[in-house]
Amino acid sequence: MNHKIFFGFGLLFSVTMVTAQDIKSGFPQLGKSSTKEVIAAMTTEEKIWLVIGGEAILKKPQPEGNAANGIIGFTENKVPGAAGTTYAIPRLGIPSIVLADGPAGVRISPRRKDDSTRTYYATGYPVGTLLASSWDTALVNKVGKAFGNEVLAYGIDIILAPGINIQRNPLNGRNFEYFSEDPLVAGRMAAAIINGLQSNGIGTSLKHFAANNQETRRLSINAEISERALREVYLKAFQIALKTSNPWTVMSSYNKLNGNYAAERYDLLTEILRNEWKYNGLIVTDWGAGKKVIDQIKGGHSLIMPGRYDQVESLRWALANNKLDAAVLDNRVETFLNLVLQTPTFKKYQYSDKPDLAAHAQVARMAATEGMVLLKNNNYTLPLTKSISKIATFGNTSYDLIAGGTGSGDVNKAYVISLAKGLATAGYNLNSTIENLYQNYLTDFKANRPKLANAGSGRPQIPELEISDDLIEKQSAEADIAIVTIGKNAGEGADRNLENNYQLVPYEKNLIKRISMAFKNKGKRTIVILNIGGVIDMSLWKDDADAILLAWQPGQEGGHAIADLLSGKVNPSGKLAITFPETYSDVPSSKNFPGTPKEKPENVIYEEGIYTGYRYYDTYKIKPAYEFGYGLSYTTFAFSNLKLSSKKFSKNINASITVKNTGSAAGKEVVQIYITAPAKSIDKPMQELKAFAKTKLLQPGETQTLKFYFTAYELASYLTAEAAWMAEPGVYTIKAGTSSRAIKQSKTFKLSKQMVTEKVTNQVLPTNRIENEFKGM
Ligand code: BGC
Repeated sequence: MNHKIFFGFGLLFSVTMVTAQDIKSGFPQLGKSSTKEVIAAMTTEEKIWLVIGGEAILKKPQPEGNAANGIIGFTENKVPGAAGTTYAIPRLGIPSIVLADGPAGVRISPRRKDDSTRTYYATGYPVGTLLASSWDTALVNKVGKAFGNEVLAYGIDIILAPGINIQRNPLNGRNFEYFSEDPLVAGRMAAAIINGLQSNGIGTSLKHFAANNQETRRLSINAEISERALREVYLKAFQIALKTSNPWTVMSSYNKLNGNYAAERYDLLTEILRNEWKYNGLIVTDWGAGKKVIDQIKGGHSLIMPGRYDQVESLRWALANNKLDAAVLDNRVETFLNLVLQTPTFKKYQYSDKPDLAAHAQVARMAATEGMVLLKNNNYTLPLTKSISKIATFGNTSYDLIAGGTGSGDVNKAYVISLAKGLATAGYNLNSTIENLYQNYLTDFKANRPKLANAGSGRPQIPELEISDDLIEKQSAEADIAIVTIGKNAGEGADRNLENNYQLVPYEKNLIKRISMAFKNKGKRTIVILNIGGVIDMSLWKDDADAILLAWQPGQEGGHAIADLLSGKVNPSGKLAITFPETYSDVPSSKNFPGTPKEKPENVIYEEGIYTGYRYYDTYKIKPAYEFGYGLSYTTFAFSNLKLSSKKFSKNINASITVKNTGSAAGKEVVQIYITAPAKSIDKPMQELKAFAKTKLLQPGETQTLKFYFTAYELASYLTAEAAWMAEPGVYTIKAGTSSRAIKQSKTFKLSKQMVTEKVTNQVLPTNRIENEFKGM
């Protein structure tokens, strides 16, 4: 084997480079020999190349900080459109593995140059925010199973999902990929989908660790966060996810944290993630994160993605100049090999490239109906009664549904069912004049707009088609009811604009008003459908709607799912996993987002500390438009019999509560358990979510008793001064509610003496731990 050629062209030609001579010469083989023996047989060069992603062989140093450059494209020889590959060492039986995005489905190219006979579409599932709004971990696990089956079928080893960053501020362009403002919801959803995905024998990547809560200057922004807020909110989501799942990889984040790149922090990646939390999977960088590859390897990474040649050079230099211990590199290589050993590629899994898209579409549709949230329903506007057949359907996104956000979280799906299509299929009559107007407008607009420079980037939204008063008037006479869909999109690389993305533009607000007035004058109603990926302003227009259905970005089957809910085929059971405030200035981070200086933010101070989302609104008594946990149903429920196993806490406590469907439609309810803890030595939120569960489908009159179990862990807060998780003595209140503000039953118990549940070391403090010696080659 010729090393020179091998190192220069490793990945592309690796398969053909292993020679009979290599095998005969008796090199240890991964899987047959121990990893230690394989490592012992490796040259230093091979070790270096192995931990640097496959793109390094392109030998083209990327412009500094340009993470987007060259991300896609290098995987063309195996899975076109996948996000990256790793280096192969055929003589030791180490194959190249494939990593692909992303949270809402498999992100690969739908067409291949070498195969014009077929397509490679993937299922577009509902976005993370919708899945979390189901509050149903079993459902999310089911989505993971179907989704993971597609990962396997397409020859991918690691799916770069789920994203679990806390939705700190509604303007974050990537909130749609994430789950919640609350770490318990985010962590449990993540574990559910990881377990489902990985049940297929493929790996996941829990991302982005940590505090990647904005897109503005995401590659360099420095998030200043107190140790307590990190522990209780931003790291907690990851910690909870890792308690009940074991993702093959954790992806570190782009941003700086308290002065240094998160991806270069040994304290975060090794002290906390590995040593404290005992995570033993692989740590991978985000694509092009940080600056110092030596510190990234030292920090704990075993894989630097997508890989650049200068990173190879840096590691060579570091090893030669005693700036990186060879044993550290060996350790990272070992973790890497342990990962490879589990992969379908290593196991020579014969993938079909033919996932069961039809079956997965049904999972996507079912999941979408479970996570949509009914926000308003005056006078039983919904479900649509039998007398309603003609629907006047307005709004661009009624005809051009936004299935998911943009960027790496986008999926190349075969189709998207529009709301119009969904309603028509469900048997409703849509007015063809309006439909044609919208369809023609959208087709023309799309045909005439400039081509996208970068396939991953989002497009500016298509302005709403202007609808005349005459048309509205005519429709209000002809149709039985009106629907107005408001759509907003966002994605990777930019945060949302306050004026036209968070707030409705004046034309949209007027459209709702004009339509609802005209219909009201005829004694008819107006439903607003929200096709959005994150929180928007509601206060300036919500009074104009009779009913509001928050459909989120519901994936490729969205139109059918919305029709399922409007018709009453499915009873809404989604609940908000993020607060909708009255006004943006109420958002606790609004004064500190996206950071300072204003023009080019460098620092963002998490001044609100632990008071994110409802922790803030509930503690400071700020009334939101729709609170955390909120969501209506077509039926009603009653809670009764909240029982605690004891009035005194010693090691744990059980709670049970009975839910009864007291209405006339079958439905599901979410029981949310909040705890108010005594606040003596430190301040505490008024209450925090500590458990939740969704009932089965309860028939009218049916009851179900749900049980919850609490340990001291659920009672503890983080005391920075003690570097410990501590439950304070005093009276605790357990509250069972249907939202953070609709508490139905509560009970108290006592903790007689202080309990330290975990003693740690404060870690993520501002530090200059990272060496600055290497200046590049
Ligand atoms: C994103 C990651 C993604 C990666 C690979 C990065 O820009 O932040 O979430 O997995 O690209 O596409």
